[in-house]
Amino acid sequence: MSAQLDTDILEQRRPGAVPVIRLDRIHKVYQMGDIEVHALRSVSLEIHRGEFVAIMGPSGSGKSTMMNIIGCLDHPTKGHYFLDGSDVSQVDRAGLADIRNKSIGFVFQSFNLVPRTSALENVELPLIYAGIAAGERARRARAALGEVGLADRERSMPNQLSGGQQQRVALARALVNNPSLILADEPTGALDTRTSVEVMEIFQRLNRERNLTIIVVTHEPDIAQYANRIIQFRDSRIRRDFPVENSKDARQVLVELPRETENDEECGGTGR
Ligand SMILES: Nc1ncnc2c1ncn2[C@@H]1O[C@H](COP(=O)(O)OP(=O)(O)O)[C@@H](O)[C@H]1O
Ligand SMILES: [Mg+2]
Repeated sequence: MSAQLDTDILEQRRPGAVPVIRLDRIHKVYQMGDIEVHALRSVSLEIHRGEFVAIMGPSGSGKSTMMNIIGCLDHPTKGHYFLDGSDVSQVDRAGLADIRNKSIGFVFQSFNLVPRTSALENVELPLIYAGIAAGERARRARAALGEVGLADRERSMPNQLSGGQQQRVALARALVNNPSLILADEPTGALDTRTSVEVMEIFQRLNRERNLTIIVVTHEPDIAQYANRIIQFRDSRIRRDFPVENSKDARQVLVELPRETENDEECGGTGR
């Protein structure tokens, strides 16, 4: 790690440094007919640049609701959300879309790739929304596919790729706008063990080498061990928030895990 990065990290962790994310007593209430569902109850938290956080907790405890608020996909009912120091709680829909495009990359359990559309074109999508010219789009999308190890699959359609490969395309798409924050809601929920670790390896690399802030929701304690901090939800509140003392190193773990066979790796036929 370079000396420059070291001082940057010290700078960011310095008491008083502005956190990337600050939630101040966030409440979220969903109205279901006559019933009010309290999905978040006074959730406060700070996350600094370069942190790698795992969010855990039982189903229905409010994890996705919080991710949607952090990702500017939804407004809190009450409380304030500061992103890079500015209050986005009251920003309108168009403003939120703008923030999402510029600074946040999303990864979901179900990959959410556009069917019958090549890997390269899927990765280019955020750049189309951002109004980037075609040549530059392709160049940046290729670079992002290279970063997730899929340079040779740019013409493959989603149904020609394995689950792990599809999730890596989704990761490239999340990265292509050069966001400062990556939000992943159960990104390994649909993947087998080795493929899950491969995805975590990419997150760890981006976190260490680019100092990207990463927040991953996971049900699996094993997966949370790749992060540097774990936040546990229960009953719409943060129940525990603690550092991971000896985070697992995904690259190391991969050396010891058996490889999938070619047949497992390819699904949906020929692929190119
Ligand atoms: N759009 C919605 N409308 C109504 N209730 C919702 C909505 N989204 C989530 N909820 C409810 O809010 C609570 C928290 O949900 P969620 O944040 O999805 O939990 P988790 O991701 O931890 O499983 C649950 O009771 C869920 O049913
Ligand atoms: Mg959820």
